[in-house]
Amino acid sequence: MDLSKLSAQATADDAIIWREGHFYLLDQRVLPDRVDFIELNSASETAQAIHDMVVRGAPAIGITAAYGVVLAGQAAYQSSAQRWQSTIRADLDTLRLSRPTAVNLFWALNRMERLIDGLSATEDPTESLLQEAILIHDEDVRANRKMGELGAALIESNAGVITHCNAGALATGGYGTALGVIRSAHGKGLIREVFADETRPWLQGARLTAWELLQDEIPVTLLADGAAAHRMAQGGVNWVIVGSDRIAANGDVANKIGTYSLAVAAKYHGVKVMVAAPTSTIDMSLASGGEIPIEVRSGDELLFCGGRQIAAQGAGVWNPVFDVTPAELVDAIVTERGVVFSPNKKKMQKLLMD
Ligand code: MRU
Repeated sequence: MDLSKLSAQATADDAIIWREGHFYLLDQRVLPDRVDFIELNSASETAQAIHDMVVRGAPAIGITAAYGVVLAGQAAYQSSAQRWQSTIRADLDTLRLSRPTAVNLFWALNRMERLIDGLSATEDPTESLLQEAILIHDEDVRANRKMGELGAALIESNAGVITHCNAGALATGGYGTALGVIRSAHGKGLIREVFADETRPWLQGARLTAWELLQDEIPVTLLADGAAAHRMAQGGVNWVIVGSDRIAANGDVANKIGTYSLAVAAKYHGVKVMVAAPTSTIDMSLASGGEIPIEVRSGDELLFCGGRQIAAQGAGVWNPVFDVTPAELVDAIVTERGVVFSPNKKKMQKLLMD
């Protein structure tokens, strides 16, 4: 496939593509400067792409890993039609190690593994694995549309909203979680202004959220991360709307670093906080947010910018890339199965039981 053809037709909704037996990812590291696709040929290349942020965003990581398992199944069966079910496990482990915080990665891999366990030990698994990966992808888009409806129903007219990081089509199978709510509310004429935090150090807000919203002709105003509280103080901001990488059983929310301080500032200013996330982001095995593994990435991401050192030589650096917002700072968790207001353990359990 000529990759430039994919680039020419690219939209944020088509960042993860399986076509005619080949797997392609829109390279989110170089957006919006360049719209480039790369082809992945193995599970280890897929794991590396997740680790290197070619693809990022919790649901998108899960979907990508599921397609990575298709590549793994294909390779395992080709190398030994009798032993593919055991040889594939090493690739599953490699994918599991790609990033630690977004539980959607483990959710998708566990789902693929359950399928593997039920398949015939000697038949080519490729088609069954592919159908499951496509289902995971399609279900995510449907969940986003539903969350878009449910979240938009909470938003008053003439609303100002702040979003953080990129929780859009690029971060999911399409449409987006937080940006799905914003898209839907904007379509209903409810939104006056969308503010996007630039989101240091990867600039997901400035590069990706702004690109996506402008593609959809939704005007966006960028804020330096540190400007959000000051913007709230000016008035006219009704909601902070974000996605999540993992929600613990008590409703504590892990999301991109800076979400916690945004929620603290929102509480102080009477701004409501909405978290839009599919139920695949909920991890009932963890009692509270303190148990969520928080990824700490290379200090170079802070010391350098655009390949040039910007920090003083010799400065120490700590680069956690997610934080945990306590449930008491969250007004609503919007999922495809319904909305949980003022989340706690009992309400989260009820959501998943209904
Ligand atoms: O480091 P990233 O870009 O993968 O972080 C992504 C986020 O924090 C998103 O807000 C989250 O995954 C929700 S995406 C629908």
